[in-house]
Amino acid sequence: MIGSPLNYTGNKFKLLNQLIPYLNNQSDTFIDIFAGSGLVALNTNANELILNDNNKITIQLLNYFRDNDSKTINDNMDRIIKKYGFTDSYRNGLKSYKEEKHEGLSKYNKEPFNKLKFDYNEKPTVDKLFALIVFGFNHYIRFNSKGLYNVPVGKVDYTASLRKKTEQYEIALSNRKITISMKDFRDKSLYKNPKALYYFDPPYLITLAPYNALWNEKDEKDLLNLLDNLDKKGIKFALSNVIESNGKTNYILKEWSKKYNIIYLNRKYLNSNYRKKNITIAQEVLIINY
Ligand SMILES: C[S@@+](CC[C@H](N)C(=O)[O-])C[C@H]1O[C@@H](n2cnc3c(N)ncnc32)[C@H](O)[C@@H]1O
Repeated sequence: MIGSPLNYTGNKFKLLNQLIPYLNNQSDTFIDIFAGSGLVALNTNANELILNDNNKITIQLLNYFRDNDSKTINDNMDRIIKKYGFTDSYRNGLKSYKEEKHEGLSKYNKEPFNKLKFDYNEKPTVDKLFALIVFGFNHYIRFNSKGLYNVPVGKVDYTASLRKKTEQYEIALSNRKITISMKDFRDKSLYKNPKALYYFDPPYLITLAPYNALWNEKDEKDLLNLLDNLDKKGIKFALSNVIESNGKTNYILKEWSKKYNIIYLNRKYLNSNYRKKNITIAQEVLIINY
């Protein structure tokens, strides 16, 4: 399976093995309406992919990996590592740095990181953003209400395995016909291909992720109506979602889903912070109309 260096919150990497068998060989064209990192689409065998997301930053990152080769992306990163003085365990070996328990490399990278964050918020560029994601806490991509990137420094640097993921991801985004678009999921122009398979992985009403705060019951109902309309037209769709999580139930979805095929998937969400590990058991589902 192809991974991504972006560690996009809510990405489907851990579920791909269970999801892909239902998504492959359904159509030549796979349209990922809430693409995020695009990992689901990129792991299918469709010839043509359309990646849509309404988030500007997400789209910038997707374009960055599609339109540049990995050498350019890694050269940009190395330039930033040098310029700001980040640790470089890939070249110098991890032994050159004394890691503190629970803190990893953060004491070395705090100052360079804060300087880079300041520069990015003054003059945002996508290469700086990718470096912030790599050196930021848990690789989070998070902005405050003023639109400023506000994640603290993380514990790791640009390791060999992250470099490899960059290469894999860049190749996956370059070697197929891929169209990237930034539209709201309700935009009718997205639904012009009746032969495509439409895949939906929207924010979830009942779990926590930064982008879920902007998702409400009206969005949920609009989406479910839209899916019913696709079904009436004989267009194939697949919807990823969570029906139950930590004692909460999404009743709107539960009722609605009874009309279609529900595939139950299991996954443990591990939300770790410095000292505590919380395990959330969520009932993930894939709902398909074929
Ligand atoms: C659960 S994430 C998708 C994760 C993705 N499947 C992956 O593997 O990386 C949901 C995505 O929906 C996007 N989104 C939220 N509201 C949207 C809307 N109204 N229209 C289109 N995209 C939206 C968010 O920006 C976010 O990237």
